[in-house]
Amino acid sequence: MDRIRVIGGNRLQGRINISGAKNAALPLMVASLLTDEPLELANVPHLADIASLTQILRQQGTTCSMSGHGSGADGRVLQLHTKKVTSTLAPYDLVRKMRASFLVAGPLLARCGEATVSLPGGCAIGTRPVDLHIKGLEAMGAAIELEDGYVHAKTKTGLKGARYVFPVVSVGATENLIMAAALAKGTTVLENAAREPEIVDLGHCLQAMGAQIDGLGTSTITIEGVTSLSGARHTVLPDRIETGTFLLAAAITGGAVDLVDTRADLVGALLPVLAAAGINVAETPHGLSVERNGARHLAVDVETEPYPGFPTDLQAQLMAFLATAEGTSRIKETIFENRFMHVPEMMRMGADIETDGQLATIHGVQRLKGAPVMATDLRASVSLILAGLGAEGETLVSRVYHLDRGFERIEEKLSAVGAQIERLKD
Ligand code: UD1
Repeated sequence: MDRIRVIGGNRLQGRINISGAKNAALPLMVASLLTDEPLELANVPHLADIASLTQILRQQGTTCSMSGHGSGADGRVLQLHTKKVTSTLAPYDLVRKMRASFLVAGPLLARCGEATVSLPGGCAIGTRPVDLHIKGLEAMGAAIELEDGYVHAKTKTGLKGARYVFPVVSVGATENLIMAAALAKGTTVLENAAREPEIVDLGHCLQAMGAQIDGLGTSTITIEGVTSLSGARHTVLPDRIETGTFLLAAAITGGAVDLVDTRADLVGALLPVLAAAGINVAETPHGLSVERNGARHLAVDVETEPYPGFPTDLQAQLMAFLATAEGTSRIKETIFENRFMHVPEMMRMGADIETDGQLATIHGVQRLKGAPVMATDLRASVSLILAGLGAEGETLVSRVYHLDRGFERIEEKLSAVGAQIERLKD
């Protein structure tokens, strides 16, 4: 298994191109199951999760081909075409690699009247059930049975529009139900729906395919079902988690970095946190620039929340930053119950952190010291790289396969702005 070696202490300086958002590209790819015409997605990031979903879609009968490279509207283009769905089964050995693959359930059910999808795997950050996906599809008339780790969903007369109120906000379940409702008979109203920019991006693509959707970006989304959808070309929005991660990487190292092909509104909850800690971030015509004013940054209190609140996917990276802040910070993780697995690893590097259930109290230390550490999930792995960039000496991060699921060429991007980082192949 590959490892990543970081020698800390270098100030990051230069320009980083932000890739397309993984969490938007995945549901957008699944949307190709809703139409027999080609769907073309530009700015698709080069990631293991994209490759895993491609495998699942191929099994369903989708032809997938990638062309071009780089980021932006003319960057990597993924052509998807599901002329005919050849299988409504998404098997365990493919689905277990990535939770987002459960998103095929709604579209398969809407287009073919049946779907058999394995219960998903993914990061070990909590129990992460799919009950809301299932209840929403049941509300739309699907008959669902759970057997041998598989969800068997069927509808004899097609899905019907329904009103569904989410008991908790769920990104994936909102996406699944929007896609199912796009081809259902009648009107679906989703209340307490998720408002993440990736859902808005998916909605825009579905609208370009002919779907009737209102209320994107609000907590009430109304979908008027149509009988068929067409193909479309869509550019994936910039990755806000990658954007936030590089803002924090620059801040940790006291660097000055320009982030290109991204937008300030996507990291709206991070910017006030950085400002309160003493980091200057400014909007530029192509993205954002970040600079630390030299002084030691300050402690801040943060709570993770569904969008537009502070994203759970930046919590571990923020903790790496706050580990060396002046004063005591508190982070409350409200989305996932087991998302402090990076804490013991950061403590191996000299961080002073206490956890009590969902709350972490971080007593800032002057400097972390490099150490061998282990990545436990996708966002935790990048937080350890960030901690290593600011630490004294060598940090060796093992189990970096998590990282390749969600960050495109991170060691290349960081070394191009002056980080001492390399991948050790085993
Ligand atoms: C998505 C993101 C992930 C991010 C998360 C929260 C993708 C591909 N992944 O994951 O990076 O960390 O949003 O912002 O977009 N829940 C249930 N029942 C369900 C579904 C969810 O109880 O049926 C719970 C989860 O366990 C969790 C919370 O709801 O506690 C939020 O999960 P959800 O928003 O669904 O996350 P994902 O869509 O899996």
